[in-house]
Amino acid sequence: MSIIFNKEKKIFKIENNNFSYIFYINQLGILVKLYLGKKINDLDLNSFSYINNLNADSYNFLDLKTNKEVINDKDNYFSGLTSDIEAPSFLTYDKRGPLVIINHQDNSSLTDFRYVSHKIYKDKKSLEGLPHFDNKDVETLEITLKDLKDNIYLIMYYSIYDGIDGIIRHNEIINKTKKEIRINRINSLCLDLPSLEYDLLSVYGTYATDRILERQKLTHNIISITENSGGKGFYHNPMCMLINKEANDNYGEVIGLGLVYSSNFKFDFIGNPLNKLRVLIGINDENFEYILDSNNSFISPEAIIIYSDEGINKVTHQFHDLIREHILRKVEGFENTILLNSWEGCMFDFDTNKIMNFISKAKKMDVNLFVLDDGWFSKRNDDFSSLGDWEVNTDKIDLKKVIDYAHSLKIKFGIWIEPEMISFNSDLFKEHPDYALMDKDVNPTTLRHQLVLNLTKKEVRDSIFSKICKIFDTYDIDYCKWDFNRILTEAIDNSNFKINKSLYHNFILGTYDLLNRFISRYPKILLETCAGGGGRFDLGMLYYSSQIWGSDETDGVSRTLIQYATNLFYPLKVIGAHVSARKFLSIKEKASIAMFGTFGYELDPTKLTDEDLIEVKLSNKRFLDNKKLIDEGDYYPLISPYNNNFVSFEVVSKDKKELIFFFMNYRQVNWESRFIKLKGLDKNKLYKNDYDNNIFYGDFYMNVGLNLSMGMQSFTPLIIKLTQVDDEK
Ligand code: DGJ
Repeated sequence: MSIIFNKEKKIFKIENNNFSYIFYINQLGILVKLYLGKKINDLDLNSFSYINNLNADSYNFLDLKTNKEVINDKDNYFSGLTSDIEAPSFLTYDKRGPLVIINHQDNSSLTDFRYVSHKIYKDKKSLEGLPHFDNKDVETLEITLKDLKDNIYLIMYYSIYDGIDGIIRHNEIINKTKKEIRINRINSLCLDLPSLEYDLLSVYGTYATDRILERQKLTHNIISITENSGGKGFYHNPMCMLINKEANDNYGEVIGLGLVYSSNFKFDFIGNPLNKLRVLIGINDENFEYILDSNNSFISPEAIIIYSDEGINKVTHQFHDLIREHILRKVEGFENTILLNSWEGCMFDFDTNKIMNFISKAKKMDVNLFVLDDGWFSKRNDDFSSLGDWEVNTDKIDLKKVIDYAHSLKIKFGIWIEPEMISFNSDLFKEHPDYALMDKDVNPTTLRHQLVLNLTKKEVRDSIFSKICKIFDTYDIDYCKWDFNRILTEAIDNSNFKINKSLYHNFILGTYDLLNRFISRYPKILLETCAGGGGRFDLGMLYYSSQIWGSDETDGVSRTLIQYATNLFYPLKVIGAHVSARKFLSIKEKASIAMFGTFGYELDPTKLTDEDLIEVKLSNKRFLDNKKLIDEGDYYPLISPYNNNFVSFEVVSKDKKELIFFFMNYRQVNWESRFIKLKGLDKNKLYKNDYDNNIFYGDFYMNVGLNLSMGMQSFTPLIIKLTQVDDEK
């Protein structure tokens, strides 16, 4: 990978073996993008005009002045209406949507940044207080621009990794004026593209239908993906793809986009009448205003652009590699974890005896991590009370005893917490109603009988953190499930109205601070985040936690739809997936789906029969045998459950030696002609499949397919494993 600056042409080239991102500084000091895509050779001056050929339309010229001098006609290639601009201005030459809007002291929002200087270095800065990608095998371009009106600076960061065809972007605003300024909008990136011929692939969802796939055509209007709930982001997710109309799973141009952020975000797709597209990605500007004092700076979250000329699958693989290699928190000692969580098995209804029985049965299941979910603290016997009172309910559970017992059986032990919340009915609320987010003039909206803590205040974070530390310092706990069960409402700080419009952002910074304190103090504890199921499933959370609970929908059939969509964006190894006691499917069948996630159980183990235990053990073995392949391999969706009567996908190891294939019918079909073509194999190598034991070349499996033209029962998962064989047939 390399970042090169050509002084003569003033061109920046950010590239690796497959990918180039190229832009230049024009005479006005405006950064104009020339190219994003598969690696190409150097561009010469001729190519500037060639690429910006829309300037032929004289109506698109504007007279731009710098230092009161008209200089537009010195740059023959630039048009503020059609050129691809990296930091588009506001209230001046560009009308397609600004990168940043700043309200100046004179109450004007004219914002226009021009090039000052740049640096290129083999490193990447960490973003203070925000989750971010690491600095392993990376190179960064840091460009400083200055606003035309005031002493306000915009620093734009572009980083590139070896092996990842894309860039990581973020921006920083530095206020060097003597007075405060107001940031009304700050995007993490602007991406102008010369075509509008894309479909947008994204996910939406709600409780128990956490991520559902949706594809729509971009138009000449604005299409946005926005979240404004304050962080329980399963309504919309900050990852998506743009699929060129010619492209499909394996072929053509697809661009992957994402934001490393767990609060309100906005992705704008702005089509213009000249068939071009502007993409703006950043913090949602709805009710947003950040007051930036003199000599302070504001840092935007990181955003990503991934480029593929080999269809959707390559973007998926690059997303997975980028997450696994450069952001995901890794904790050693959990490589072969099989978990049993108490929630669906007993909800709040347990005591020491019951949990001891659960653990002893867990041992018989070959489980090696037991998690005591909600209900172990204060008076928490339902969801009406006690959040914020993080003290063990010793009348209900002898925590030390159950932990010691688990450890004596070589079973790790974990507990559930929900640190960002406060119950109305809690000692904490009696003592500190001021800790809850409320508007003093409006009745608070409670959801699940609880309010959200005002984590923007350090005092609140300190108080909660010290209570949580008492638990984790006292007890020998190996795992923590960090839940977040409601959206933010009445996001008001009654003690400081001035900052209310940045409350959502400051709230998530407060959450990140708590998470950061937690993982720094307890580096060996495995953290799984959760939000009323699989809300807050984002890159920000994956910086702190190694896995995210996928959904409270644990029915295997529904899970195939949720996991299929999630897998397009996030690696399989981060999706919390359990076998539950829901009525559909046998244990083995449910396990066939859960094994394509973190895998575990969530049921009353004392109800398992001896036959069930046999199925449990066989399923565990199958999971462990394939865990490395599923965790580290390349995922390929084969048949989408969203427009078919069945679902199919596979994972191939990076060395192409092994493949695991999943298939399930949603309705019974007898003897239908059905060949499913596999992907990602070595076409010249022989593979044996363990279904009919046939040995064929990779070529055959990929072009003829697996012959599944047989009676297929509905809702009966079929897993087939292919292994490379050396011998001739
Ligand atoms: C919501 C989670 O998604 C569940 O798994 C469980 O932990 C409950 N909260 C507990 O209140």
